[in-house]
Amino acid sequence: MIVAADTAALMEKIDVMPRPLCLVPTMGALHEGHLALIHEARRVVGTTGTVAVSIFVNPIQFDRKEDLDKYPRPLSADLAACEAAGADLVFTPESGQMYHADHSITVSENRLSSFLCGASRPGHFSGVCTVVMKLFMLFRAQSAVFGKKDFQQLAIIKRMVRDLNVPIEIIGHATIREADGLAMSSRNVRLSPEQRADAPIIRRSLTAARDLLSLGERQAESILAAARHHLEKSQMLKIDYLSLVDAETLEPVATIRRPAILATACFYDTVRLIDHVELLP
Ligand code: PAF
Repeated sequence: MIVAADTAALMEKIDVMPRPLCLVPTMGALHEGHLALIHEARRVVGTTGTVAVSIFVNPIQFDRKEDLDKYPRPLSADLAACEAAGADLVFTPESGQMYHADHSITVSENRLSSFLCGASRPGHFSGVCTVVMKLFMLFRAQSAVFGKKDFQQLAIIKRMVRDLNVPIEIIGHATIREADGLAMSSRNVRLSPEQRADAPIIRRSLTAARDLLSLGERQAESILAAARHHLEKSQMLKIDYLSLVDAETLEPVATIRRPAILATACFYDTVRLIDHVELLP
């Protein structure tokens, strides 16, 4: 496995890496969810192609300094995990490597970003689009894999690729969960043992509300009320948002007639967790 710690080292290697190349962009603190993305990348490129992973805690996508400062950065464990998962190339730049002190170009998506996480994290998706576009340019990858847990991120990246004619295939991979249903996230390690024990309530609340759909309920208001009722049983979490949106436009819906998404973001103190379920009428 080749490790490139800066853009110059990456540029030296990237032209000689066998193609096709599939990129797995990450911010490190790798868990089984990331490893599933790396395995998916291997499936996509086969044994002769290149699986590349980037590990970069992208400062411009953090809306809260504390979240950036506390984001876990276990680099040597991450490199060992990449190696064990069969990655061929890992890029681990420092922030100064990725952004010039006077950088002044960003990529912004202006419609899908106005809902859900975009509404509560100003500038977040512009930071994501900018770094992902830079990574696509640096790697000149044929494809890239992203987790479906961040479904809004995935939708926005697909939109960016479509609208800017970026020659890359975007692949979404199913959310990987802990045995108790909690979606895997690098932020889970920041939960206290009590919060960690409480956190599966997020998934349970969403699936309980989804069950109403199979009983014939189509009104978003009722489904949202059921999910909120469940979430409020927790004494520890604070709901950031709970929304029911169209699966394609991400706009709030009143009556479910097309595929929709019930999505939430919840805080345990300063740790923000997200999850969602698909609602198929
Ligand atoms: O999903 C993430 O970990 C990040 O948002 C990404 C796509 C690596 C960009 O920094």
